[in-house]
Amino acid sequence: MRTVLLAVAGLAATGGSVQADELLDRGAYLMNTIVACGNCHTPMGPEGPGPELAGGLPFELPGFTSYAANITPDPEIGIGDWSDEEIGRAIREGIGRDGELLAPVMPAEFYQHLSDRDLAAIIAYLRQVEPVVSAVPETKFKMELPPAWVEPVASVPEPDHDDPVAYGAYLAEIGHCMECHTPRDDQGHLDFDRLGAGGQVFPGPWGESASPNITSHPKLGIGEWSDAEIKRAITQGISRNGQKLQPPMGYAYYAGISDKDMDALIAWLRRVPPAE
Ligand code: HEC
Ligand code: HEC
Repeated sequence: MRTVLLAVAGLAATGGSVQADELLDRGAYLMNTIVACGNCHTPMGPEGPGPELAGGLPFELPGFTSYAANITPDPEIGIGDWSDEEIGRAIREGIGRDGELLAPVMPAEFYQHLSDRDLAAIIAYLRQVEPVVSAVPETKFKMELPPAWVEPVASVPEPDHDDPVAYGAYLAEIGHCMECHTPRDDQGHLDFDRLGAGGQVFPGPWGESASPNITSHPKLGIGEWSDAEIKRAITQGISRNGQKLQPPMGYAYYAGISDKDMDALIAWLRRVPPAE
């Protein structure tokens, strides 16, 4: 009897660690490809990326000045002491540990759609990153803040991974593609009636880049591009005419997107209504 119980307990333990491994694998995949938190949170110097997720990248916008936070597990400066709930709320709702609103650079509007499983996977990954002691200045707002960026998020079910268009739409949300590729109005709000029409300008060490139209418009968008051309632009940063594309799009992260996920993303992009 005893040996049977032990054997069962042993099985359960292995089952648990297999699940934990799978969760961490999923987290590593998301973080290093489509989700690419490091595109903002990993410092980038002239010699390439600095310590993973140690923060510091400045964002100077009309309404605030903010710096990407240190999200390594250092307990003092990073998020080592935060609970899973606190980290999840920062990601999906743009709310800091003390309940304060984070600068809307954190794309809560998009991350609110992260499934519970993918959120847990990302948190599992964050917990095992190398802790880095490197302080980051606090955000300074010069604007009135709304009560919240998004409605509270209780639970998000897993999308259907086998429906390419639905899963592609999900990937585009968690990759926040349309945050950069949708035009903003005078108040800085995304104009979702013109989803994907481009036109945002990004100044940086690279000079200035502008987000192109990535709707299915045949002339202004990517409606006439082949799948291979779209894939090359996303993963290698090469436009249809062979021109090299500039940051801040995270081409190097996107290079690791799986074929299945890339097919889903392209299937969805082809459905984005043409916009001028
Ligand atoms: C477009 C840039 C950008 C992206 C992408 C981004 N972040 Fe952030 N994040 C920021 C900035 C800037 C801050 C600081 C905001 C503030 O303090 O008001 C921040 C703050 C945070 C915080 C709060 C930390 C603290 O100490 O208050 C967490 C946690 C966080 N980000 C996690 C993530 C994760 C996980 C991802 C990917 C799923 C992600 N971020 C993607 C820019 C970004
Ligand atoms: C942080 C902002 C940002 C994010 C996030 C982003 N992009 Fe981009 N993207 C750009 C910019 C800026 C360019 C143009 C760069 C240039 O012209 O040098 C671009 C270029 C492109 C191009 C090439 C279009 C052309 O006409 O050359 C495609 C396709 C594209 N993005 C698709 C995507 C998809 C799909 C995602 C999500 C997986 C995404 N982008 C996420 C900013 C972004």
